[in-house]
Amino acid sequence: MRVLVTGGAGYIGSHTLVELLSAGHEVCVIDNHANSSPEALVRVAGIAGRDLGSHVLDIRDTAALAAVAQGFRPDAVIHFAGLKAVGEGEENPLAYYEVNVGGTLSLLRAMEAAGCGRIIFSSSATVYGMPQYLPYDEDHPLAPVSVYGRTKRQAEDILRDWAAARGRAGAPAAAILLRYFNPTGAHESGRIGEDPRGEPQNLMPYLAQVATGRRAALRIFGDDWPTPDGTGIRDYIHVVDLARAHVAALERAAQATGTEVYNIGTGRGVSVREMLAAFSRAAGRALPHEIAPRRPGDLAESRAACARAAEVLGWRAEYGLTEMVESLWRWQSANPDGYGG
Ligand SMILES: NC(=O)c1ccc[n+]([C@@H]2O[C@H](COP(=O)([O-])OP(=O)(O)OC[C@H]3O[C@@H](n4cnc5c(N)ncnc54)[C@H](O)[C@@H]3O)[C@@H](O)[C@H]2O)c1
Repeated sequence: MRVLVTGGAGYIGSHTLVELLSAGHEVCVIDNHANSSPEALVRVAGIAGRDLGSHVLDIRDTAALAAVAQGFRPDAVIHFAGLKAVGEGEENPLAYYEVNVGGTLSLLRAMEAAGCGRIIFSSSATVYGMPQYLPYDEDHPLAPVSVYGRTKRQAEDILRDWAAARGRAGAPAAAILLRYFNPTGAHESGRIGEDPRGEPQNLMPYLAQVATGRRAALRIFGDDWPTPDGTGIRDYIHVVDLARAHVAALERAAQATGTEVYNIGTGRGVSVREMLAAFSRAAGRALPHEIAPRRPGDLAESRAACARAAEVLGWRAEYGLTEMVESLWRWQSANPDGYGG
């Protein structure tokens, strides 16, 4: 298929490009590099042994986006581009609504101009908010507790309404909403990986920078949560498994109509202390850490029910914790300054 990929130079996007190219799809990337390096695309092409088209532009520039889409004539779009730092969203909500919600509207306008009605969207487990039960299934009520989470829920609503209206008008329309849990790890080559700008907001990139000496110690936000070891539990998913979920979703989008929602996780919970121990083993030394107060809006535990993705998409996570930490360490130790080094 011909696939337009927004945000393709980012962490999840770059890994997905490798899987798309390896599966024989044609790709065209849109990215303004607000949070990524063009070097990621060079490395993707090297790993896959194939070229890809790319355009440096902002998804809010509807006219430019429409021109690219009309030239490329995509069969489907994978929409990664967005802002994703929860704390930054609280400080600058307008930027988050502009890019994550306004950018999605702009993209849909451009898709209409190009006659494209199939989209796969990067949503997040954060749309569920405080768990009413665990694991979260796709029917769990949506009550996001952050600006970031609300932008994702609004984008989901827009996509749902758009797909329904197109369907009623008799035009092909499929919106596949993938709710990611906690992506981590890197491509096995160690050539591409997560390269956050500034201080990492998430556990794994922070831990990786502690291991290279770039940060002094891991801060564990709360060791008094109601969990077996007192630290928060998350459902970590290897980024290559996540990337492959997009290839499966693309195949599904070719035949589906309307909106479908899938959790993308492993269903297994791992605590911060367990992750610290696993990553320390991969890095070959005990990594320094300290206990800090809980952060507002954090949860004790988050875990996915993944049966729907297995049944309908035929997709399941294949990698475990060892592959996650070892691949992350391979990337981080070979590229201590990310793509900038
Ligand atoms: N990483 C996670 O933990 C996680 C979890 C759930 C959902 N998501 C979502 O998945 C998507 C990809 O996440 P990621 O971790 O790869 O993030 P990332 O920041 O590495 O990638 C996002 C990409 O979008 C680009 N971008 C941002 N604003 C843009 C704009 N206005 N126009 C064009 N390009 C723009 C960035 O330069 C970057 O390359 C995001 O939508 C994110 O919200 C991520």
